[in-house]
Amino acid sequence: MRRTPMILDCDPGHDDAVAIMMAGADPSIELLGLTISAGNQTLEKTGRNALNLVQYLNLDVPVCPGSPRPLIRELQIADDIHGESGLDGFTFPPLKRRFDERAAVDFIIDTLLAHPEPVTLVTTGPMTNVALAMRLRPEIIPNIRRIVLMGGSYGYGNVTPAAEFNIRVDPEAAHILFTSGVPLVMMGLDVTRQVLVREEIIERMESVGTSAARLFCDLMRAFNATQREVYSLPGGPLHDPVTIAYLIDPSLFTMQHVHCAIDLSHGESYGRTNCDMFDYLGRPRNVHVAKQIDAEGFFDLVEHTLEQY
Ligand code: RIB
Ligand code: CA
Repeated sequence: MRRTPMILDCDPGHDDAVAIMMAGADPSIELLGLTISAGNQTLEKTGRNALNLVQYLNLDVPVCPGSPRPLIRELQIADDIHGESGLDGFTFPPLKRRFDERAAVDFIIDTLLAHPEPVTLVTTGPMTNVALAMRLRPEIIPNIRRIVLMGGSYGYGNVTPAAEFNIRVDPEAAHILFTSGVPLVMMGLDVTRQVLVREEIIERMESVGTSAARLFCDLMRAFNATQREVYSLPGGPLHDPVTIAYLIDPSLFTMQHVHCAIDLSHGESYGRTNCDMFDYLGRPRNVHVAKQIDAEGFFDLVEHTLEQY
């Protein structure tokens, strides 16, 4: 089987944790490393969560901490959803795993320049690390096969009426990626809100009975409690693993190729992904945006993931 070499840049985070499980388990993905951003919580906490996750899942991948804050804005965290630790709901064994000696930007640059074929980047948090790498060493850009990102929406936002969290935390970083010329695949709220991890889904996964299933269920119950409190949702949208599902089985998705720009004006729509779904302005199409997902097929992938650990 031809494996996809991939770096996952994330801010674990409950849904990031499921993305890490899926990327670490699927034989079609060669997970080269995790680079960590600040977002759901501070970098200190998202970094520690990433180490706990790779240790618990027994994943032999480097974990490289990135920028502790966005390029321009002050850091805005999502502790209302992910809690004080950034991964509330599960108690990990004593942490022994350590960070790789390289910072995220250095790992991204070194890996992209050294790898024999173009590498896929997946971002499931604010895009600060990838943006910094592009600015520092623009020669890496031709070595990026594509970026599959969780972020944005062509509908309404989740931290302002207009903007989604990952983009709103660091709009300038997102602008760098969206104007880089790298092929982009955007998994926005429009599609992630179609896969709510309702209690009946959790109960289905509980019966898998593996250590990963126990981790999934504890984390998702905590995630659902805060999503219910903040958004009155019947289950948390499984945002981040949708990116990995796309890599594994793109046939689960209905996509549209559009022009999309990040709103950098400092008004009500700061950080919005303006997707030109009807091509009103006739600008070059730079993003494949997801519109529909086969939710049943997605949760089958999640179940299969949990069976692998
Ligand atoms: O808006 C959802 C995104 O913000 C997800 O990546 C979640 O983990 C948070 O980072
Ligand atoms: Ca995330």
